[in-house]
Amino acid sequence: MKEVTVFDHPLIQHKISILRKVETGNKEFRELVEEITMLMCYESMRDLPLEEVEIQTPITTTKTNMLAGRKLAVVPILRAGLGMVNGVLNLVPAATVGHIGLYRDEQTLEPHEYYCKLPKNINTRQIIVVDPMLATGGSAVSAVNFIKQRGGEKIKFMCIIAAPEGIRALQTAHPDVEIYCGHVDEKLNEHGYIVPGLGDAGDRIFGTK
Ligand code: PRP
Ligand code: URA
Repeated sequence: MKEVTVFDHPLIQHKISILRKVETGNKEFRELVEEITMLMCYESMRDLPLEEVEIQTPITTTKTNMLAGRKLAVVPILRAGLGMVNGVLNLVPAATVGHIGLYRDEQTLEPHEYYCKLPKNINTRQIIVVDPMLATGGSAVSAVNFIKQRGGEKIKFMCIIAAPEGIRALQTAHPDVEIYCGHVDEKLNEHGYIVPGLGDAGDRIFGTK
């Protein structure tokens, strides 16, 4: 089973604290989600392979390192995952973007699929699934199921806040998936919300409540 990486960087922790505040408005919330994603992405891409290439500088030719091999695909879980896409694309503009539409039934907390479109040759890509919240883990487990059913193999999952229950569920269902998160919170409440959490991430990004 892969280990969970929790980012303890002060900038990430500070920005997550502002994100949690009930008085943080939609615009600032969106900006923070993007910034936090960028910071987490920087760290989580540490193992991307490099290859040596020869280039010409204004002074001479030289050998230097550039990203090699697997191309990156970022796959947000709709809706809230959309808020994280630009954070990844700012760092890796050549990444392709897939989409998986899932919503949680408010009563049963079971995820329901309504959309799935992944980039071509998904089996050759390093895939990073993004969603700000890992609560029961149902949505993340389903999203990874869809990707694997369509041939995806090398998968990372990145969220901003995780509940211990969600981490356990994702690790149990998909022990090969590397999990990255900004903070592990205490627990889920009786409605399946993360405590202390930040509320409904989709509603706060898109201003729907
Ligand atoms: C939220 C969140 C995750 C999911 C996490 O989405 O963005 O996708 O819940 O919960 P889980 O780990 O228990 O599955 P939601 O279903 O509210 O949809 P939305 O993004 O469209 O608001
Ligand atoms: N989805 C959210 O947006 N927030 C939670 O706390 C749990 C699931």
